[in-house]
Amino acid sequence: MSDSIHIAVVGSGYVGLVAAVCFAEMGHSVVCVDNDQQKVSALQDGESLIHEKHLPELLQRYRNARVRFTTDLSAATREAQAIFIAVGTPQSETGDADLSYVEAVASEIARSITTYKVIAEKSTVPVYTNEWIRRVMERNGVSREMFDVVSNPEFLREGTAVSDFLHPDRIVVGTDSDRAADIMSRIYEPLTTGRYYAKAGAIDGACNHDTPPPLLRTSTKSAEIIKHASNAFLALKISFINAVSNLCEAADADVEQVAQGMGLDSRIGPRFLRPGIGYGGSCFPKDVAAFRSVAEQLGVNFALLTEVENINADQKRRFLNKVRSALWTLRGKKLGVLGLAFKGGTDDIRDSPAIELVRMLIEEGCSIRAFDPAAMPRAEQILPPSPEIQYASDPYDASNDVDALLILTDWAEFARLDLQRLSAAMRFPIILDGRNLYDPELMLENEITYFSVGRPTRHHTQELATVASRSR
Ligand code: UDX
Repeated sequence: MSDSIHIAVVGSGYVGLVAAVCFAEMGHSVVCVDNDQQKVSALQDGESLIHEKHLPELLQRYRNARVRFTTDLSAATREAQAIFIAVGTPQSETGDADLSYVEAVASEIARSITTYKVIAEKSTVPVYTNEWIRRVMERNGVSREMFDVVSNPEFLREGTAVSDFLHPDRIVVGTDSDRAADIMSRIYEPLTTGRYYAKAGAIDGACNHDTPPPLLRTSTKSAEIIKHASNAFLALKISFINAVSNLCEAADADVEQVAQGMGLDSRIGPRFLRPGIGYGGSCFPKDVAAFRSVAEQLGVNFALLTEVENINADQKRRFLNKVRSALWTLRGKKLGVLGLAFKGGTDDIRDSPAIELVRMLIEEGCSIRAFDPAAMPRAEQILPPSPEIQYASDPYDASNDVDALLILTDWAEFARLDLQRLSAAMRFPIILDGRNLYDPELMLENEITYFSVGRPTRHHTQELATVASRSR
């Protein structure tokens, strides 16, 4: 057994909370700090607060033992050998990352430091944040030998956060200090040696690798750029396939076939080539904007990123237009909506294209009957039930007597619906699928008029007859 390290994780959001329980799962002793007392109490009671696979079981196993929750950052700093900063970096009005939480945490750490610490930033931050944290520490009177700042970006995805954390493609450690690099290597040693994967009961990865993940040591600035560049590249890949899907629609080709053909080229790869209604979530929109802003500040022309954003915004408008042309007019239409989360497998609605579309549709005078397997409680907070929006108990309830059904989130269960039952519930058998979850042929067989993204829409006479007969 290698040594267990005392770790403090500051911030109990997606990244912080998952990092905290996963470090414990790797054998370390962790204190997770948040300044929200209510959140801390809930976590102490074993409430996981976010919808994330494996999180409840790990929390139950380690809470108040190998993972403790507290609001006391000073005490956590004093105990820890390494402090991971995982607080929010929201988008400011100019598109920059707002680093005020990071600054507040760095100042408090500076006031509490008594022995050498590694301060690792896990939040996605612009290049130069490391230097800036270093300056905050020094300005607060902490001498250089008392700390090192490391960039250790996190690449986990929501919905598979725990297994992504424990099965990363790579671990990036950006530091110019050998002392800090050594502590970071010891922290990740259970993963990099494969020891964790050999353990009975180890959590599986979403995609299992044959070899343990490499630890890539880089300069701090390179590590900071790796994170932003990776997310911007993935967003670009999505916008690219979305633009190709528009071209396919114009040319009467099938984007799914095109994506398959492209993805078989190992230099391109099949992942993140799913067309849809645009990317959303707490990372991509914010990170693309922040990376664009970093480039501007450094005097670098990165107009490509602006186009990535434009295509993404357009994708939602195009889908809205598709609904409009399917229904002729929108005012007074009753629409079923399946999916409110920004993607399947999560209850997160931050920057969700589904929510944005629902708002646009309401603005156009539609009334909505929405269902989401996990995100409805969060959605109800920002869109309370009203004549414009009602929440349904399941997909069939959402389809009840609607003019059309919209699929806006790629939940796996939405791809396995009983189409006859759906069709019978709807006023008109029209489905607009923003996630391409169905084979258009299957829809035809079920006499449903089916619009999807980047694929030909074929009405056949029988379908039109069905619509006509039901509208009588
Ligand atoms: C992302 C990154 O993947 C992760 O590495 C980083 O740490 C945080 O940001 P996440 O926001 O959880 O993770 O979601 P992800 O699965 O990447 O999806 C982001 C958005 O892109 C979703 O709205 C999703 O629906 C959309 N998407 C994804 C597509 O539209 N098409 C695709 O092919 C893939």
